Amino acid sequence: MKILGIESCCDDTAAAVLENGKTVLSSLVSSQTDIHATWGGVIPEIAAREHLKTIAPVVDQALADASVELKDIDAIAVTQGPGLIGSLLVGICYAKGLAQSSKKPLIPVDHVHGHIFGALLGAEGDPEDLFPCLALVASGGHSNLYYMKDPLTLKLMAYSIDDACGESFDKVGKKIGISYPGGPVIERLARGGDKNRFDMPVIMAEKARMKFSYSGLKTHMINTMRKIEGELTEKDRQDLCASFQHTALEQLVRKIKTATTMRPDVKSVVISGGVSANQYFKDLMREQIKIPALFPPLKFCADNAAMIASYAFYKNKFLKPDFHESFFDYSWDAYSQYKYEEVL
Ligand code: KG4
Ligand code: ZN
Repeated sequence: MKILGIESCCDDTAAAVLENGKTVLSSLVSSQTDIHATWGGVIPEIAAREHLKTIAPVVDQALADASVELKDIDAIAVTQGPGLIGSLLVGICYAKGLAQSSKKPLIPVDHVHGHIFGALLGAEGDPEDLFPCLALVASGGHSNLYYMKDPLTLKLMAYSIDDACGESFDKVGKKIGISYPGGPVIERLARGGDKNRFDMPVIMAEKARMKFSYSGLKTHMINTMRKIEGELTEKDRQDLCASFQHTALEQLVRKIKTATTMRPDVKSVVISGGVSANQYFKDLMREQIKIPALFPPLKFCADNAAMIASYAFYKNKFLKPDFHESFFDYSWDAYSQYKYEEVL
């Protein structure tokens, strides 16, 4: 079964073709990072207009790279939300047009849930064997930790009460003079830094409190920088990055550890979202967490459409096998807000 995935929730226009939810026949991402870097963050209006320009060529190229035509595709999957509403609407309207004109089923996909399938694309063997698992989505918009008894069921165990983890990398990066997105550059600078040079807080120290927080850490970094006399040297920047990176990621690992004691049945921890590209995070997880941790292949950490097509495959397999008629109803709407339903 071949699914064409389309993703446009923020500043990446992406399309992919997957066979049976696991084999990636093609995956293309057209990034707007350079355009938004000028502004220090994503400008929604510009993002939507860029999607409008690139969506058709990106989808065409994904089909060509997979050596298929639209007629060979069994279903189309598209990100329904959450995200920037203008950006979402470009992808959704394009996908609806394709589906309606070719009379194909259209599967709406939640972007946050989709990220988890980015990690499953790197699993050896059958991804279904990893369940029940804990799943962390740490991106620019979310820091959500879930218990998943199966691929379709998410039970929220922890979330951020303020900034998301990736967002804090971007905001702290900006203060240190790093252009958006801050995460990859902070990671690079931190490699040469001393994480013990500055006094750092333990965030959300109370063990039973299953919440993340990042805005206090951002303020702490600003205050730490103010105490450094004169211009920041390269060494100052490296040490600041190392201290911040450790404190930001240690918080995630510590809460995951608590979650493993709350849910002793879990067989694995699946990590996804842009922050999952961080090598220091992978090292901390392997040091601190005894059960196996699965990270996405690097190209599926950040936003992509392979994860959207993969999740759509399982949505069809478990929820509405053989393209239930609801997948031929194209009348649904986009949503921009993430819904926090069940908190364990
Ligand atoms: O998943 P993603 O591409 O987009 C969202 O859905 O938000 O995540 C982007 C976020 C940005 O905040 C970026 O700074 C962060 O992921 N990020 C990283 C790294 N690479 C990207 N954070 C820490 N370390 C990295 N290596
Ligand atoms: Zn994302």
